[in-house]
Amino acid sequence: MTKVLVATEKPFSKVAVDGIREVTNAAGYELALLEKYTDKGQLLRAVADADALIVRSDKVDADVLAAAKKLKIVVRAGAGFDNLDLSSCTSHNVVAMNTPGQNANSVAELVFGLLVYAVRNFFNGTSGTELKGKRLGILAFGNVGRNVARIAKGFGMEVLAYDAYCPASVIEEAGVKAVPDQETLFEECDIVSLHIPATPETIKSINKPLVARMRKGGILVNTARKEVIDEGGLLSLLQERTDLKYLTDIKPDTDASFKETCEGRYFTTPKKMGAQTAEANANAGVAAARQIVGFLEEGITKFQLNK
Ligand code: 3PG
Repeated sequence: MTKVLVATEKPFSKVAVDGIREVTNAAGYELALLEKYTDKGQLLRAVADADALIVRSDKVDADVLAAAKKLKIVVRAGAGFDNLDLSSCTSHNVVAMNTPGQNANSVAELVFGLLVYAVRNFFNGTSGTELKGKRLGILAFGNVGRNVARIAKGFGMEVLAYDAYCPASVIEEAGVKAVPDQETLFEECDIVSLHIPATPETIKSINKPLVARMRKGGILVNTARKEVIDEGGLLSLLQERTDLKYLTDIKPDTDASFKETCEGRYFTTPKKMGAQTAEANANAGVAAARQIVGFLEEGITKFQLNK
C-alpha cells in the first residue's frame, strides 16, 4: 500500500489533517503522521517506508532523502522551498513540489495584524497612528505581495511595489505603482513589507544602507525569511535610527539583542505564524495531498521544482 507521511514539526490544524486524510483514503493510500517531532532521528525513522512526504518548513536534506528509500515525491505544503535540498531530491529520483498561493492570504493578513499592533504602539494605551494614507512598499509581487496590495487598498493606503522578476506592467495592472528598484521602494515608503524568497541573491540583501533609505518613522515588516535580513546591519541601524521599527514573523538569531536595543520598536512572533490559519493549513495540506495523488496516479508534475 502506498504510504503518505505528513511530517510537521509545526502541525497543521485538525481540519487540514482531516482534508489530507480524505484525499489519501479516496486514493487507497495509508496516511501516517509525525507531528511536533523534536529531533531529526524521529524524521529519519518515519520516512523509511514512505512513498510520499508532505512537509511544511521541515528540512528535507540529504540525510532524510538517504533514509527515505521508497520516496518518490515530497511536497512542501507552502510557498518557500528553501527547506528542500532540491539537488539531493533529484539525485534520489524524488520529485519535489510546493503549493504556491495556497497560504498567501493568511500571510498577507498577518502583515496587517503586525502593522496595526505596531502603529497603535503595541496597545500600550497611548495614541498611535492610522494606516490610512500611508505609503506601503511591497518587495516582491508574488502571491503574498498581491494579497498584501489588495488588503492595503482596503485600509486606504497608497501601494507601491518592486519585483525583480515581475514586469512593471503586471504590477500597474493590479492598481499598484511600480518603482524601478528596491532602493526607490525603501526611499519612497513609510512601511516596507518583505515578500522575497531566501535565495543566494536575496540572503542578507536587506542591509543597513538599504533600510537606512527609509523615511522618518519607517516600519520594516518581515513575513518572508529571516535569512534575507543582514541582522548585524539592521540592528546597528536601529541603534542609530531610533525612529524606525522592525516587525517580524521570523525570530532573528539575535532576538535578544533586538529586544534589548529596540524596546518599543521591535516585535517578533514566538513561532512563525504567517500560515498558521485553519484555512491556509487546509488549502496547502489538501493541495499537497492532491498533487501527490496526481503525480503517483497520472504523472502530473505541474508544480515540480526540480525539473
Ligand atoms: C511558506 O513559505 O509557505 C510560509 O513561510 C509558511 O511556512 P510554514 O508552513 O512553515 O508556516
